[in-house]
Amino acid sequence: MAAVAQRTSALAPSATMNMHLMAQRMRAEGRDVIALVGGEPDYDTPENIKDAGMAAIRDNITRYPPGGGMMELRQALSRKFRDDNRLDYPPEQILVLAGTKPLLTAAALGLADPGDEIIIPVPFWVSYPDIALMAGCKPVLVNCPAANGFKLRPVDLEAAITPRTRLLFLNSPNNPTGAVYGEADQRGLLEVLLRHPDVWIVTDDIYEDICFTEQRPVSLAALDPRITDRVVTVNGFSKGYAMQGWRLGFAGGPREAMRAMARVSGHIAGSAASFTQVAALKALNDARPYLRQREAEYRRCRDLVVTAVNQMPGLSTQVPDGAFFVWGDCSGVLGRRMPDGRTIGSEEDFITGAIEHAGVAVMPGAPFGMSPYFRLCFSAPIPTLEKAMERLRGYCNSLS
Ligand SMILES: Cc1ncc(COP(=O)(O)O)c(C=O)c1O
Repeated sequence: MAAVAQRTSALAPSATMNMHLMAQRMRAEGRDVIALVGGEPDYDTPENIKDAGMAAIRDNITRYPPGGGMMELRQALSRKFRDDNRLDYPPEQILVLAGTKPLLTAAALGLADPGDEIIIPVPFWVSYPDIALMAGCKPVLVNCPAANGFKLRPVDLEAAITPRTRLLFLNSPNNPTGAVYGEADQRGLLEVLLRHPDVWIVTDDIYEDICFTEQRPVSLAALDPRITDRVVTVNGFSKGYAMQGWRLGFAGGPREAMRAMARVSGHIAGSAASFTQVAALKALNDARPYLRQREAEYRRCRDLVVTAVNQMPGLSTQVPDGAFFVWGDCSGVLGRRMPDGRTIGSEEDFITGAIEHAGVAVMPGAPFGMSPYFRLCFSAPIPTLEKAMERLRGYCNSLS
């Protein structure tokens, strides 16, 4: 048999998907499992957005869209960048693809060469290291422990930069920790980055519209004109607008960077489905109030889960400022015994026990690069979260 490409051997299968499948299998066996593992909104796409997408199909907007995205959508995104992020990206410097994932991949392929280093703060969204590997780059993982609020410190960034560093992935609000880089945090990083003019920065702002801080998230690219031309700002419709299945992401950035990304993506996807782009236009024009309403609902979910987790013996969490995850520290349960007599030796044991004894599935921390932690997605109806918290509390109380 012909051999498959070597580069695939280093790539990890999606850990989130594995956990989903496990929960699904258990449900099929008749077990009652509450799965808080995914990274997607629990809500449906708003009706007016769905209607716009369906009307577009009926109107035969089903042909190839222009490479890089429909001009009308790029114009609307240009206004969005200006109004929300104080970023001045003309439509020609905006790229629309089928999800944020392909944009991040196009950024790595378009901005870094094989052998270059890509800095990734830890914990990280699971795909960043694999995206770096696909581009033939070396992922340089920089630890951002709880004591730093899980954020990259300027001193650690400085220490990680070498002559081979080509790119930094920065994600705020963060998956999995919910950490948000405020203006002071960004200014600290900016100072370091200004000393290293050969480094591109790709900011992943996909959770921009799920943020609980008083001020809206700040865009690194808008902080200082000296950095603007080195930052690619990536965002998408999956989280805020609950359009994850429509597959739509967008990015804005300096002309050269966007051209390089478009050159790469032109041979992979070209753009995104044409009717999806029409639906996205509707989202930008007519569904903005929906965002703040959902944010308020997510805040209630967050508060419920954070309070509950911090009352469970052996578990603790910081309060996430954004996204829909609680990043829990489970070091306090290590060494304790489950009702079936097994000792919890790792986060994996804790999580397996939570499924088996409490019927609650959460993600282990290891795929995000940090242990012993777990990630709990609180994008679920309040009664489901209450039930899950009650079960988890019972499980933690049962440990001896
Ligand atoms: C931080 C982060 N970036 C990117 C993505 C991918 O988003 P999309 O659905 O736009 O491909 C996700 C999805 O979970 C994410 O959490």
